[in-house]
Amino acid sequence: MRIWITGSRGMLGSAILSYCQNHRIEVSSTDRQSADVCHLDPLYDHVSKYKPTHVINCAAYTDVDGAEKNPALAFAVNAEGAANMALVAKKCGARLIHISTDYVFNGLGTTPYCEEDSCAPLNVYGMSKWEGEKRVLDIFPKACILRSSWLFGSKGKNMISSLLHLFGERGQLEVVYDQRGKPTYCDDLVKAVISLLDFEGIIHFSNEGEASRYHIALDLLEAVQSAGIAVKCQKIVPVPSTQFATLAPRPMYSVLDTNKYTRLTSNKPRPWKETLIEFLSNGI
Ligand SMILES: NC(=O)c1ccc[n+]([C@@H]2O[C@H](COP(=O)([O-])OP(=O)(O)OC[C@H]3O[C@@H](n4cnc5c(N)ncnc54)[C@H](OP(=O)(O)O)[C@@H]3O)[C@@H](O)[C@H]2O)c1
Repeated sequence: MRIWITGSRGMLGSAILSYCQNHRIEVSSTDRQSADVCHLDPLYDHVSKYKPTHVINCAAYTDVDGAEKNPALAFAVNAEGAANMALVAKKCGARLIHISTDYVFNGLGTTPYCEEDSCAPLNVYGMSKWEGEKRVLDIFPKACILRSSWLFGSKGKNMISSLLHLFGERGQLEVVYDQRGKPTYCDDLVKAVISLLDFEGIIHFSNEGEASRYHIALDLLEAVQSAGIAVKCQKIVPVPSTQFATLAPRPMYSVLDTNKYTRLTSNKPRPWKETLIEFLSNGI
């Protein structure tokens, strides 16, 4: 097995790279500088030299609000770039895992989203990711599209890292109570990716347990205090999302159904609260 990871400086890409290196899995990684997914030539060059058996596409434009201001770039990376990765993986006979997102759904649902549910993204980022999914599957129907949600880990800006930062700065914090989702610990997503290397089709993975952003903040503060980490924040106030206008609208209900993942792999995702304790005890 020879894995090629794109977007290897990002939160997920770097975590998969470390996992492979620590588990002696033969791996090659590229970042935006060494292989921009928007250009086919460097991608073909890389596969002709490295000859991967598996390609994991973690390259993405992930600035959700930025995508509203620069839709061309979001589509270039998330749709055109994804299509390029499908062409290259198919041409070299490798399997492809392409990472996608819960933001392909509109969040008007009230029960967890299954893989077959209709997509109707609310923002440009979600639209560009959905377009990427469709183009990947058109070009390479044997590809695997792995959707995840609310990712957090030791690298990169994410909901948990932002909350931790604010806990240290402010005595009181306002957090929205009307957006619900399932946080996903990057290390658990890495293991899910590795377990799905030989699968195809759309598959959802997130940690178990849905919660509002407000309840996540409360649980995080409690976990931080129990871990003896000194913070300024003493109180979290629930507020509606209307009080936190963002450029890109967010889905109100972003919960992924992960039963297909469990059926295929016989693995059950861990509760996100358990992963939070592990994340904090690893020194953040
Ligand atoms: N973060 C979340 O909450 C979340 C939730 C659900 C799904 N996802 C999906 O998970 C995947 C990984 O996300 P992440 O959180 O690890 O994102 P990330 O930290 O932003 O990593 C994405 C990486 O892609 C690179 N990149 C951007 N444009 C590129 C290009 N044209 N060619 C090659 N590389 C390029 C970025 O490099 P630069 O930094 O140099 O631009 C960055 O290193 C994405 O597909 C994302 O849509 C994320």
